[in-house]
Amino acid sequence: MTNQDTETIHAAVQDHYRREAENFSSDCCGSKTPCDCASTKNYAADDLRVLPAGLAEVSLGCGNPVSAIDMREGDTVMDLGSGGGLDCFLSAKKVGSRGRVIGVDMTPEMIAKAEANALKVGATNVEFRRGQIESIPVADGEVDVVISNCVINLSPDKPAVFREMFRALKSGGRVAVSDIVTNGPMSPVVAKSLDSWAGCVTGALDIEEYRQGLIAAGFQNVAVTPTDGTPLAAFAQRLPGLPFSALITARKP
Ligand SMILES: C[S@@+](CC[C@H](N)C(=O)[O-])C[C@H]1O[C@@H](n2cnc3c(N)ncnc32)[C@H](O)[C@@H]1O
Repeated sequence: MTNQDTETIHAAVQDHYRREAENFSSDCCGSKTPCDCASTKNYAADDLRVLPAGLAEVSLGCGNPVSAIDMREGDTVMDLGSGGGLDCFLSAKKVGSRGRVIGVDMTPEMIAKAEANALKVGATNVEFRRGQIESIPVADGEVDVVISNCVINLSPDKPAVFREMFRALKSGGRVAVSDIVTNGPMSPVVAKSLDSWAGCVTGALDIEEYRQGLIAAGFQNVAVTPTDGTPLAAFAQRLPGLPFSALITARKP
């Protein structure tokens, strides 16, 4: 992929999520792509009850990485592509006042939305930084945990994202990512559409490439689990290139 392709994808994705930030709504599920649908179905009602009314509707994720990882009091958590901030606020409750949460997002309108939401939540241990996940604005070894929800598939340079996650984590740091993946190459017609890239379909990686990409960046204990509980082996029987949501976990040695 050329630098110009990378810029074209970043611009299309940013434009898409600028519009999403300006029009959050929770009733769009019928016609849209996996990351276009504000949905709370991945979260336990009890978790959402602690948040102000309406806040959960900022979710554009495809899973729940916060519930999938052991976060400890005092941890520093980083959320890649933090959107309206829901996973940051849930993480902030888990790490407590001695911990902190850094949300990173490249879309200024999403950062503004997340900052406004932080005021509503009264979250004092959460900050949002504008930046690209291929060049993350945190110091080496600054974080204990990396989470991300339906974002890495949107990146035109996934090896750079995996390297940056590794750099940002402390030794022994943990990763929990919900993402759209495939079980083989995507059909060429779907693969050409920029709209469907921004909607979390075209950029989805094959699960084996995902696993190998994380291992190449230095991660260990890489595991991929379909979000709906279907055994991974069953996906091999389905049409190749079919996008589905999965939880990916890993650890920095
Ligand atoms: C599908 S939304 C998910 C938002 C959030 N994680 C959630 O669960 O609601 C994708 C978010 O990732 C951001 N994003 C996409 N590509 C990015 C990149 N390369 N660098 C930084 N942010 C990116 C978008 O601006 C958008 O806010």
